[in-house]
Amino acid sequence: MSDFEPRLEQLDIGLFQPISTQTSRGDKRSLLKLQACARQPGQYRYLEIGSHLGGTLQPHYVDPRCERIFSIDKRPAAQPDERGIIYEYHDNSTERMRANLRTAYPQADHDRLVTFDCDASDVNPTDITPRPEFCFIDGEHTNPAVLSDFAFCRQVCADDAVIAFHDTCFVFEGVRQIQRDLTAEGVRFIGVKLGGSVYAILLGEACDRLLAELKPLVEDEAAYFERAQLELERMHLQNRYPILRMLDYPRKIFRRLRRKVG
Ligand SMILES: C[S@@+](CC[C@H](N)C(=O)[O-])C[C@H]1O[C@@H](n2cnc3c(N)ncnc32)[C@H](O)[C@@H]1O
Repeated sequence: MSDFEPRLEQLDIGLFQPISTQTSRGDKRSLLKLQACARQPGQYRYLEIGSHLGGTLQPHYVDPRCERIFSIDKRPAAQPDERGIIYEYHDNSTERMRANLRTAYPQADHDRLVTFDCDASDVNPTDITPRPEFCFIDGEHTNPAVLSDFAFCRQVCADDAVIAFHDTCFVFEGVRQIQRDLTAEGVRFIGVKLGGSVYAILLGEACDRLLAELKPLVEDEAAYFERAQLELERMHLQNRYPILRMLDYPRKIFRRLRRKVG
């Protein structure tokens, strides 16, 4: 892709096409910015937990500076989630993901992609070499899973890596616990809430190198976590009393009408 560099520089979310991904516009911009940061020194390695169809792998798949892509996906038929619902993933396989990437990017170097069909805790850390500078956690959306995935990433990543989370609005308790653990351990880190539902932990020297660069995308973390907590509580109530979901419809229609009349 000849125009890749300027597109990445402009955070062109079209880089997340043609393979579909479960990310918002804000998520995509944040992920592209983190990728731009990871590749600044030159070659970099990317590790992703939860790749599904390959949608969030694709900007790295076409990046000439991305030397290795590690994709870890347990691919269960159904997975638990902090929202209290079991999410089903049909026809979710590594073969399908690889085929998507091969079809979308026939010219890419397919040998850079290393896949693991298991939970990250079952991956042998010595299989993750060279150490990745950018890790993205988007697997099972429960707090215990996020804690376990983060522990794995820390074990295998570079000292000055960035470890990012998706759907932080559901796993913010896990992220808060990680912050407390790192502080108690005396680890040098900075946590930043970026656009969409992306949260990133900058480790070691990445704090100095990247904070200023990420600043335009940084959002108020406390306000976001507070909103997320309220929303999650509302979802739990709706799961318990489904009638509340029906009561939600008039509220949504009312809001839409109000927006239309200005
Ligand atoms: C939300 S999807 C990932 C979407 C993808 N990042 C995208 O937007 O293109 C979650 C993925 O996590 C995987 N998954 C579920 N439990 C997992 C676990 N314990 N470890 C690793 N992956 C897991 C599922 O198989 C699914 O493919």
